[in-house]
Amino acid sequence: MNPDNNSEQKKLESLEMFRRETGENLTTNQGVIIDDTNNSLTAGERGPTLMEDFHFREKMTHFDHERIPERVVHARGSAAHGYFQVYESMAEYTKAKFLQDPSVKTPVFVRFSTVVGFRGSADTVRDVRGFATKFYTEEGNYDLVGNNMPVFFIQDGIKFPDLVHAVKPEPHNEMPQASAAHDNFWDFISLMPESMHMIMWVLSDRALPRSYRMMQGFGVHTFRWINEQGKAHLVKLHWRPPLGMHSLVWDETQKLAGKDPDFNRRDLWNAIEMGHYPEFELGVQLVAEEDADNFDFDLLDPTKLIPEELVPVKIIGKMTLNRNPDNFFAETEQVAFHPGHVVPGIDFSNDPLLQGRLFSYTDTQLIRLGGPNFAELPINRPVAPTHNNQRDGYSRQTIDKGQVNYFPNSRAGGCPMANPENMRAYTHYAEKVEGLKIRKRSDSFKDHFSQATLFWNSLSEVEQDHIVSASHFELGKVEDKQIQQRMVDLFNHVDHELAKRVAKGIGISPPTEPALENHGHRSPSLSMENTVKDSV
Ligand code: HEM
Repeated sequence: MNPDNNSEQKKLESLEMFRRETGENLTTNQGVIIDDTNNSLTAGERGPTLMEDFHFREKMTHFDHERIPERVVHARGSAAHGYFQVYESMAEYTKAKFLQDPSVKTPVFVRFSTVVGFRGSADTVRDVRGFATKFYTEEGNYDLVGNNMPVFFIQDGIKFPDLVHAVKPEPHNEMPQASAAHDNFWDFISLMPESMHMIMWVLSDRALPRSYRMMQGFGVHTFRWINEQGKAHLVKLHWRPPLGMHSLVWDETQKLAGKDPDFNRRDLWNAIEMGHYPEFELGVQLVAEEDADNFDFDLLDPTKLIPEELVPVKIIGKMTLNRNPDNFFAETEQVAFHPGHVVPGIDFSNDPLLQGRLFSYTDTQLIRLGGPNFAELPINRPVAPTHNNQRDGYSRQTIDKGQVNYFPNSRAGGCPMANPENMRAYTHYAEKVEGLKIRKRSDSFKDHFSQATLFWNSLSEVEQDHIVSASHFELGKVEDKQIQQRMVDLFNHVDHELAKRVAKGIGISPPTEPALENHGHRSPSLSMENTVKDSV
């Protein structure tokens, strides 16, 4: 052992010898036992409070600083601990270690959330649900930060601030609190045809889950898996609940929002307390790299899913949630997910929405969690060891040892070294990239309606009726007739009957003919030799 470390160790041990953890007495943060926490120290029984009352000052100061900013989106959440196990080795597709051995249980922490509402808003609103999973793997943390819908509103991350400004309460009066039923939102959507596929999902019963245990999850973006030999597959990720998928009906959600705003949170908590552990199977759609361009849509476009008729979902493992958090703030609130937390064998695609996300999460967490050291919080700390030369900053927990905190150095002695020879090191996939530096959406992202139509046609009559009723409620609240008209025009690109029915319910003249432009602009070749087509 390094003599330096040895003496540090002794220093710490010498302090530990004196620690006594009884927990019986109320103390200050300095460990001094308190005699009375009900009365301030005053000069005389009815006199002024004294500045020297260190217990009062400490108690009040800490309380004054108890709140941290809520998440800018997904502020309201509920979470649980559990574990994940793969059913069979995925070595053929990825070298990620936690996906190799069916006997290995990888600990996970999952946070479900609504997107728009504040931290104290109701659970049962019409909204997308977040479904974020942190896998504490032996190679580092892997976060799968997904939603309960397979596509998204926008194609490029640079539009996210606009989307969120539009969907959140309006800036002048902060209304409506947790609903998309307002002019700003529909104004934005009516000017963003790329959002129409997602809008169909949001108006469907998928936006009203009966329980977090009965909800699907999706990674949304196309990611990349790379095996030990360096071969890559593009991959879409799915969570599937064995309990099946169930939704509330609109009237139920309205009543529940008043009677029990914690409905989904309580359901998750109670199920786990009663031993009815929520389960989700992990599914993948794998597309060989050489087949990536053989679809009639772009795999990099997050407003598109891969139809299962083309690439079936292969079920590869299961997650079980079996423990409620001990402390909401320390765990559910302080957890920091990031789509950029990946492990060897998992990499990104050039989906411009995903690329935007890769910047946003750490940036927001730096302010939300107060500085650069939130990876040290117990809920965020990896089970894999961490060593680097990052130092100091607000609330640093680690007592870094040694004289050397830079690289290269000639004094080694405990200083961590990057090692290109290490087979378990993360190496980015060497994707060939070339092109002009431009701001231009690829033409392959132009078809905004085909999959919206596909979704509409896949629904039963009752499910279609629910979408029409939802449009009447949501768009019926819009005051600007031009916005309503633009929305009817967009629905007319999805389905003529749908547009006529929406128009009728909100007092807009129905369209006389279907609009069909922007459907399927690319010719599909759909010969996918190497893509994984066997479903398990
Ligand atoms: C949370 C940004 C798109 C899923 C967040 C947060 C930000 C953010 C700033 C708050 C994080 C925190 O405070 O810890 C963005 C940006 C996006 C984007 C810039 C697009 C460019 C998406 C998409 C999905 C998604 C497409 C789903 C696939 C989530 C989830 C959370 C979240 C589940 C909550 C995580 C938790 O439970 O703590 N996002 N987001 N986001 N986002 Fe996104």
